[in-house]
Amino acid sequence: MASLANKIAIVTGASSGIGEATAYQLAQQGATVVLAARRIEALQTVQQTIQAQGGTALAIPTDLSDPGQILALAQQVAEKYGQVDILVNNAGIGSGKFSEVTCEKIDHVIRTNLLGVMLLTQALLPGMLERRQGTIISVASVASQIAIDSLYSASKFGMRGFSLGLRRQLRNTGVEVCLVSPGFIRTAMTANRSGNLPGPEIVARAIAQLAIHPRREVVIPRYYQAFIWVEQWLPGLVDFVISRAK
Ligand SMILES: NC(=O)c1ccc[n+]([C@@H]2O[C@H](COP(=O)([O-])OP(=O)(O)OC[C@H]3O[C@@H](n4cnc5c(N)ncnc54)[C@H](OP(=O)(O)O)[C@@H]3O)[C@@H](O)[C@H]2O)c1
Repeated sequence: MASLANKIAIVTGASSGIGEATAYQLAQQGATVVLAARRIEALQTVQQTIQAQGGTALAIPTDLSDPGQILALAQQVAEKYGQVDILVNNAGIGSGKFSEVTCEKIDHVIRTNLLGVMLLTQALLPGMLERRQGTIISVASVASQIAIDSLYSASKFGMRGFSLGLRRQLRNTGVEVCLVSPGFIRTAMTANRSGNLPGPEIVARAIAQLAIHPRREVVIPRYYQAFIWVEQWLPGLVDFVISRAK
């Protein structure tokens, strides 16, 4: 039997990149996957691909920066499936140079990358706690430990604090909380970066692995751990390297 057979999973940001690849991975492991993002056509394409491969998926267009739409997503999934076993908080956006961003942009980044994650998690938590079963996996970034872009890093540091704190609060409840921190991955978000970046499948595989064997935190690719170590112990060196790279 597939490892995630009979599991219901929600993947946010499933219309492209890491979320899309994660939806395929979870479906291949037997999970029924609810696909949430704003672009309905892209979600329907992912849904059809999963169905063509013999899996089960349902597209629910959702703007995760809108609290009302988050509650509607949780309600629709509860009515259709009665439970959620796996939540992958993946949807996210980049920011831009802080001195140039508007107040609206700050609000939008924080709503999408942080508030939306908290609200969807909170909406699904009572059901998970009641059944004493569930796994919440959030996609942060290496930028949640090495601050470079201040607004983006603020949202991802926030997500990391939320995930690690929630993990401790939910100890012994049967609900697992995990964090995935990718380095640069080849997706629409990194379209203007040169170099040979790894594809989103490596993150998707790590997420599927966490859904089966939950862990506190995973950095992908693993060599980014070395950069995180340098940031922690020699932050001045990182300041120097970044200033030289500008
Ligand atoms: N690529 C990297 O190098 C990298 C590195 C570290 C972390 N990450 C993180 O990985 C996650 C996925 O990013 P990606 O690289 O796969 O980029 P991507 O292809 O641009 O995917 C972003 C996803 O988020 C969704 N999204 C954005 N705003 C949304 C909103 N308001 N409501 C619902 N969905 C929304 C997008 O869907 P719609 O546009 O259809 O709404 C899309 O599916 C993000 O959280 C990102 O911060 C990426």
